Parts: sequence; structure tokens; C-alpha cells
Amino acid sequence: MDISIIGSGYVGLVTGACFADVGHNVICVDNDEGKIKTLQAGRIPIYEPGLEEIVHRNVSAHRLHFSSSIREGVEKSQIVFIAVPTPPQSNGDVDLSFIEKVSREIADILTDYRVIVDKSTVPVKTGERVAETIKRYNRHGAKFDVVSNPEFLREGCAIRDLMHPDRIVIGAQSQHAVDLMKKVYEPFMAPVLVTGINSAELIKHAANSFLALKISYINAISAICDASGADVEKVADGIGMDRRIGRQFLNAGIGYGGSCFPKDVAAFIHISEQLGVPFTLLKEVQRINAGQKERFLKLIRDTLWVLREKKIAVWGLTFKPNTDDVRSSVAIELVDAMLREGAHVSVYDPKGMEKARELKAIADAKFAASALEAVDGAEALVIATEWNEFANVDFAAVKQRMTTPIVFDGRNLLNPETMGELGFHYHSIGRASVIPR
Ligand code: UDX
Repeated sequence: MDISIIGSGYVGLVTGACFADVGHNVICVDNDEGKIKTLQAGRIPIYEPGLEEIVHRNVSAHRLHFSSSIREGVEKSQIVFIAVPTPPQSNGDVDLSFIEKVSREIADILTDYRVIVDKSTVPVKTGERVAETIKRYNRHGAKFDVVSNPEFLREGCAIRDLMHPDRIVIGAQSQHAVDLMKKVYEPFMAPVLVTGINSAELIKHAANSFLALKISYINAISAICDASGADVEKVADGIGMDRRIGRQFLNAGIGYGGSCFPKDVAAFIHISEQLGVPFTLLKEVQRINAGQKERFLKLIRDTLWVLREKKIAVWGLTFKPNTDDVRSSVAIELVDAMLREGAHVSVYDPKGMEKARELKAIADAKFAASALEAVDGAEALVIATEWNEFANVDFAAVKQRMTTPIVFDGRNLLNPETMGELGFHYHSIGRASVIPR
């Protein structure tokens, strides 16, 4: 099928590349001409495992094109996906101005039938607004259908998530649009759920909020484990073996971050308030998430006594492993907090260094060239992101380089017993600390 994707950010680019890879003709559009030029030159502006290869393969096969012209995208395709940012506003409301602008631009171009698909995460009832706007601004009386098709991919495993989705949600009002959308997704051989537009929009916020709630649930349990001497990993295993609960997203840590969960939970709270049915449970989810970082900082302070002038190494800056994304990363917030308290912080991340260097909040940190360099002379090591690389470091060498071998593992990446045997003072989340005699 001929498909265009308006917005070549994270979701737009990965979706476009995967659509091309299953045989569709795809034009990825963006109003950032620099980005389009970069893509046309064969360079990928984001880090996502496997993406570069797929983009190159499909550009060579002439199935994937890049353009800065919405007109070209809309004219040359049967289905137009909108994948533009929907950033949060300070009151938790979602800024829909990019969606509104693209809707007007599409309306201006539309002369005959197209399916306009919203892939961006939007508040329930946005599709109705998009349809109204296109109708209002279209001078040709062109026929069109609006569809909501939320995206559930995770950064770091986006290609796998897109190629093998648990489900495809198609929110539509016309059978014709549903049939066309099913054709788009046919090669993926995934279960399809057809709903109304409002339900599809709600599914995205409800799913992400539930996952955030699951993380906050286990994080609240981790505090009870710390207070009672139980082990949160065992508790998570025990409850996760119940298939009704499941083990995934029950990893306790310093809290969730990233460009989705914090934003989507805040937006869902706002949406529910605007609809007159406040979803107060989600406020507690937010409170627990913020509290988890504070609990971790308190553990560091209680152990080191004073942070001022202390040399602290931090491994991990991205909001999770296998990405270069440092947006809303709890790791960055931790570095910021420790710098404010006067610590000398030396940081290292396998992929996030470049983007982290641009952040003013941690400009005073020392950016080390390797995990080992970061711990040189350090009085404590904080693990803030669970990169595989960190689990495989030579900890005997780490210990030798550190002034005092104290580790705060904010992601329960390492084995407490092994760390104890190596002579580390080892602290983690919801598990007993190991202090060698
Ligand atoms: C999320 C959703 O999973 C995805 O379906 C949606 O499309 C976009 O938002 P993403 O933000 O890429 O994806 O990452 P995810 O793997 O969900 O992790 C989000 C945050 O939760 C990370 O900070 C991660 O460290 C944290 N997390 C995740 C935990 O703290 N514990 C867990 O058990 C799982």
C-alpha cells in the first residue's frame, strides 16, 4: 500500500521503516528539513537497535522515502499517518497544536478519499476534533475517514515490538477504513482489535497508566521489603508467577522515566478531571514514583553522611537501557540532585553521553570515557540504568580504582552475594544491604 507518515520522530520513523520492510511504499515526512536531509543522506538521527539496517535496506529497495513536503506525502498515499509530538503542558494538559496544524495542512491538500490515521498519543475525543478540523478547512469537499491507531512500541526494542505486536488497535467509524487498515497490518499477522475511535484513544492512556501503576506497586512493595527484611525480587517472582498478574514490569528501582509514562499518567489525570471523573489512584502512582527516587537519595545520604566534596560515579544516564534517550530520566535527576548537594559526580553511559552533554542540569558533571574511568578515585558508585555492559564489568578492577568500594544499585542489576564476596558495601532496592566485615 502507499503510506505516508507525517512526523519522522521516534514513532514515525520506526513505524515507517517497518511498514516499508513488510512491503509497503512509505514516505516519511517532517517539517525539519535538516532531519530530512540527514535521513536522505543515510544517517539516522536516533539510536534504536536494528533501525539503521532496516532504513538502509528499504531505501535501497526504493520502498522508503523522506520528504519535507506534506503535500507530496498526502498526494502519493492512500493512508496518511499522523505521528507528531503531543508534548505535555505545565498543567498536565496535552499540547495538541501540532496535530491541529497537520490536520489543517492535510485539509488544505485533500482532493479525494484518504484515511487519516492518528498514531500520536492523544486524549480521548481528539479524533473527533481532527475530523471536524479537516472538514472545516477542506475546500474540495473531499471524503475521508479518521482512524485512531495507537502505538505501543518501547524504546530499545521498538523494531521487535512493531514487527511482533501483542495487538493492533484500530479505532474507526467506517468499515471501509477498517478494511484498509487491516490490509496495512496483514503482513504483521497480529491480533487486531477493532473499536470506536474514543475507545482506541483511551486504550493507549489506560495501558500506559496501568504499566506505570504496576511499577509503582512493586516500588511501594520494595519500601515494605526494606522496612521488613523481605526481598523484593522474590516477592515479585512469587506474585508474578500468578498468570493473572505476570512478572513483567515488576522490577523495582528508582522509578519510571522516559518520554511516555510520566507524561501519559499526568495527561490521563488531567483528562479524567476534565471529564469530571478524577482518577485519583494515578496521583498516588505519581507520588510513589517520585518518592522512590527520594528514598534512594536518602539511602545514599544516610550511608555517606555528607555528599559535599564526595566523589561519586554514576553509571547510566538514559531512562532505560538500549536507548540514547535521556528525556525525563530519573538517572539525570539523581545526578542533578547530587551535584546540587556539592558532590563531584563523574558519569558514564554506553549510548547516552552525547544527549546528556546537552543538559544544563548536569553540566557540572565530569563525563568519563568508560565505566572504569568513571569510578577512578570514587567514594561511591551509583548504578542508575541497568545496561548489560555494567553487569559484565570487571568488578575487581572497579574495586581497585575506587577509594571506598560502596555501590548503590538503583536497578537491582547485580547479585548482592557476589558483590559482598568481592568486598563491596552493596546497597540496592528492596533487598538487604551487604556490608562485609
Ligand atoms: C512505554 C511503554 O512500555 C510502551 O508500550 C509505550 O508505547 C511507550 O511507553 P518506553 O517508555 O519506551 O515504553 O519504556 P518502558 O520499557 O516501558 O520503560 C519505561 C520506564 O519504566 C523506564 O524508566 C524503565 O526503567 C521503567 N521500568 C520498567 C521500571 O522501573 N520497572 C519495570 O519493571 C519496567
